Amino acid sequence: MVQPAEIVPVGDQRPHSEGATLLFDVLFKLGAVVDSARTNSYWLGALAAAHECQSRDEATGIDYDKCREAGGMRIETRDLQVMYDGQTKPAVHGINLSIKAGETLALVGFNGAGKSTLVKALMGLSTNATGSVEINGTPLEEYRASTLHARMSCVFQDYKKYYFSLRDNIGIGDVSRIDDTDALQAAMAYGGAGAILEKTSLNTVLNPYANLHARPGDGGGQEGMGLSGGQWLRVAVSRAFMRAATADLVIFDEPSSALDPAAESALFDTIYDLAHREGGTRTTTVFISHGFGNVRRADHIAFMAGGTITEYGTHEELMALGGEYARLFTLQSRGYVGNGGRDAAASGAGENW
Ligand SMILES: Nc1ncnc2c1ncn2[C@@H]1O[C@H](COP(=O)(O)OP(=O)(O)OP(=O)(O)O)[C@@H](O)[C@H]1O
Ligand SMILES: [Mg+2]
Repeated sequence: MVQPAEIVPVGDQRPHSEGATLLFDVLFKLGAVVDSARTNSYWLGALAAAHECQSRDEATGIDYDKCREAGGMRIETRDLQVMYDGQTKPAVHGINLSIKAGETLALVGFNGAGKSTLVKALMGLSTNATGSVEINGTPLEEYRASTLHARMSCVFQDYKKYYFSLRDNIGIGDVSRIDDTDALQAAMAYGGAGAILEKTSLNTVLNPYANLHARPGDGGGQEGMGLSGGQWLRVAVSRAFMRAATADLVIFDEPSSALDPAAESALFDTIYDLAHREGGTRTTTVFISHGFGNVRRADHIAFMAGGTITEYGTHEELMALGGEYARLFTLQSRGYVGNGGRDAAASGAGENW
């Protein structure tokens, strides 16, 4: 299991060089960037793998690439439960999920239902998980984390905004290609960030604090360029796409939360295209979205409530079931069809939006 990285605020010590080695060096020595231990340990694992280094927390374990199967990761969970420190009730419990290689799984449900907690447990980022998660038939904790994480890519709901150049913000998704401008531009095209390059360059430093008052020690100030919320999200999505061609599992936790409708639609087209490529290069994809119009194309949909999966099936199966998924899908469709959606609910017209 990946251990938490140390938390050391970066402040003004961002890397000034474009070089991958220096970036890796700085990150590795600092131990972490910005705020989340789990998220940072994920990136450090990936960075370590990219540089064929062993991260400090893992000397042994199975090399995931030796267990790699064509067509994406195969994931099985049994009685998976996650209890956060200091809590008396689990955030997630009783999860028995089978995700086939190359499958697209959508997780939906109310705020606080446990979706983000579940996807982090599927990636091996929860220290408080019990039950089991098997990847390609092997318990997740038996893998050397860096080898496993090198084949995973994700956009977390609390995605990071690094006080780095645009190149480094995106290239950190695959440090081995951080100097490969073609790879960066391809990832930005997938992530809908291409337009950002029209008004700036890859070398421009992005400043997450640009719109805030400068405070001592927080890296504030006006140096560097500010981006809108949606533009930052496009940068984070592009970062995940740096590994789209080599990852066996891609996870998007509400990737469209800040996107305009055209960008949201294009992003989900890209996600589905990547997940449904012919041949052995498919990727297992898990995504979380509150936009039910994006969810219906998934191979399977899991509806979560109260920390567990209460409904599971295809869109058609869940609509036929007439449970919470069907109720919420119909409710949401009311904003898109005439007469308050009453006809949609009765006739299935909401199916067309
Ligand atoms: N770090 C934490 N410590 C303690 N409890 C937490 C922590 N993170 C989440 N929780 C709790 O775990 C439960 C599940 O949270 P989670 O973030 O997984 O929900 P979610 O389904 O992703 O919600 P949303 O749709 O709002 O993103 C919630 O009750 C939440 O308050
Ligand atoms: Mg969430």
